[in-house]
Amino acid sequence: MVKLRINNKFYELDLKGNETLLEILRDHLGFTGTKTACDDAECGACSVLIDGVQMLSCLILACDMEGKEITTIEGLSEGEKLHPIQEAFLEKGAVQCGFCIPGMVLSSKSLLNKNPNPSRQEIKEALDGNICRCAGYQKIFEAVELAVEKIKKNKK
Ligand code: FES
Repeated sequence: MVKLRINNKFYELDLKGNETLLEILRDHLGFTGTKTACDDAECGACSVLIDGVQMLSCLILACDMEGKEITTIEGLSEGEKLHPIQEAFLEKGAVQCGFCIPGMVLSSKSLLNKNPNPSRQEIKEALDGNICRCAGYQKIFEAVELAVEKIKKNKK
């Protein structure tokens, strides 16, 4: 039995040992905001936060995650209240088909956790592993910049 902490809640799971965190999140626990696309560490759609740092859940074995804090996109908002990064993506119109957005938002959160005031270049580098098939990068970068402003304002 493995005990995983996901979005501040504990789940006891009988794992086979070779299941990825992505499979467990989506297929067993219904956290479908974590997307499956390449399943090969190429696209960033399956991004989650592990102890606040962006990682690819298609690359991680779920059984290795005991004792870690796992955050999916479902755990970012507080009930109905969106996280400032999510608000900024909506306000900037950074969401097109939406498939890459959970990963983009979580990679942005990971960046802002360690660098609360990133430059445009640092934002681009942090989101480098997240592919947007709609190629909406400009608005996504602007959204992260807006999120920085929102978070600063919230702290005042
Ligand atoms: Fe994991 Fe593409 S599904 S990186």
